[in-house]
Amino acid sequence: MKKKIIIANWKLNSNIKNISIFLKNLQLNISSYLKYNTVIIAPPTIYLERIYKKINNLNIFLGAQDVDIHKQGAFTGETSILMLKDIGVKYVIVGHSERRLFHNENNKLIAKKFGLIKNSYLIPILCIGESEDEKRNNKTEEIIKNQLDIIFEFFGEKAFVNSIIAYEPIWAIGTGLSADPEYVESIHQFIKDYINQYSSNNLEEIIIQYGGSINAKNAKSFLEKSSIDGLLVGSASLDCKEFLEIIKVSNEILCK
Ligand code: 13P
Repeated sequence: MKKKIIIANWKLNSNIKNISIFLKNLQLNISSYLKYNTVIIAPPTIYLERIYKKINNLNIFLGAQDVDIHKQGAFTGETSILMLKDIGVKYVIVGHSERRLFHNENNKLIAKKFGLIKNSYLIPILCIGESEDEKRNNKTEEIIKNQLDIIFEFFGEKAFVNSIIAYEPIWAIGTGLSADPEYVESIHQFIKDYINQYSSNNLEEIIIQYGGSINAKNAKSFLEKSSIDGLLVGSASLDCKEFLEIIKVSNEILCK
């Protein structure tokens, strides 16, 4: 059975005190839930190493929230893929809608970052999804096609092997209004079919997550869907109890 992947994206949140409380709780409670789940924590860059030291022996993986396109040099304030790899990062989120919106990242830049992550043998978590306006104007499929096409253009038919796609409709992020699981299922199927047209890879190998206002109460309705391979959790992942509850729900579904 395919493991579900549960990812915590802490965005620009938390501090040393809260991280310490979170990790203590995680250490005490996580082990029984890891059989059917892969768990990834993506904290702010400054806390990556501190967290790696505590989660490495728990079989939980470290994720970064972004990476620069340069490997080294005079690029003040940036973090390179070599540095992320050096401190134990395995997964890197790329193209999150908050980076697209607040840092003007476009599909081309995101494709470059995606390639850099893959060429460094780390696993990209590519975020895609439509805005509220785009959904209202029936542009969801067109937007998703554009976001995927550029990746195929750059990296060919094997682009999505050893990668994760996170479908995160922008209107569902941080709004408390998660998408309808049936709607997400239909979009995931659309993504799989679209990728299938370009690539001869086994569809089973394509991993597609959902993200957007996930919490311990609604996680089950998403994780029950076979086309939803896991969740990218924002604010609910800051509270260890709630995050553990989401992992537990996933475990229970897969244990059945
Ligand atoms: P929320 O779960 O806070 O809506 O955030 C989702 C998200 O953007 C995860 O990357």
